[in-house]
Amino acid sequence: MSALLEVDKINSYYGDSHILFDVSLKVEKNEVVALLGRNGAGKSTTLKSLIGLIHPRSGTIVFDGKPIQGLPSHAIASLGLQLVPEERRIFGSLNVEENLVLAGLTAKSRWPLERVWETFPRLKERRRSRGTDLSGGEQQMLAIARALVREPKIILLDEPFEGLAPIIVRDLLATCRALAEAGQTIVVVEQNTSAAMSLADRVYIINNGHIVEALTAQAVRDKPEILHRYLGV
Ligand SMILES: Nc1ncnc2c1ncn2[C@@H]1O[C@H](COP(=O)(O)OP(=O)(O)OP(=O)(O)O)[C@@H](O)[C@H]1O
Ligand SMILES: [Mg+2]
Repeated sequence: MSALLEVDKINSYYGDSHILFDVSLKVEKNEVVALLGRNGAGKSTTLKSLIGLIHPRSGTIVFDGKPIQGLPSHAIASLGLQLVPEERRIFGSLNVEENLVLAGLTAKSRWPLERVWETFPRLKERRRSRGTDLSGGEQQMLAIARALVREPKIILLDEPFEGLAPIIVRDLLATCRALAEAGQTIVVVEQNTSAAMSLADRVYIINNGHIVEALTAQAVRDKPEILHRYLGV
């Protein structure tokens, strides 16, 4: 059986700058995979390459049995890959519910709003609040919920815990864990190693655009010093 997502030796560039070097990784259905690396290591570039925001010059990406490298990002999204970008990009002038409805409009199938409210009770309380009036944590919940309403086969989270207070991180982690237990496949990119490690089944470490380690989360827990070398933690 092949994995839900199989990335084989992709090379990505910004203009003439070669950023990703033969990056390969796999994500099985129902797995939580963490991609860890320092500032500028190539984490966001990897996610952008997966969803077609940038197109690798070589290598292959097979998602759910179909090659997707070179497809436009909207086509990849409708196949079931959804990115929650670092900068969240919610619509500030729309309220919470409007943001969610808009996100679901073009989806093949979608979560009923009730399911969003069950998953994120705080968003239900804030359903009439405009995006600009939300706290950082609420904005992040909305950004994640907006991806989930489209029922993605894989949700890609780019530094979801960045800039959030520890208590908010704890809540959001609990929500992500519940999603994973319900079978949601997740790829999480983080500099916050401990948060990511509390979620992940497997871990890749990226350094200067190269995947330098592929480990089970258990192996990292048994030998946490593995992380020191590349992450300095
Ligand atoms: N639009 C761009 N044009 C040119 N170079 C870029 C662009 N975006 C990123 N880079 C460069 O590509 C490299 C990888 O960046 P990337 O954003 O993937 O890193 P990252 O691991 O996500 O880092 P961070 O943790 O800071 O978000 C960096 O050297 C960065 O300067
Ligand atoms: Mg990044």
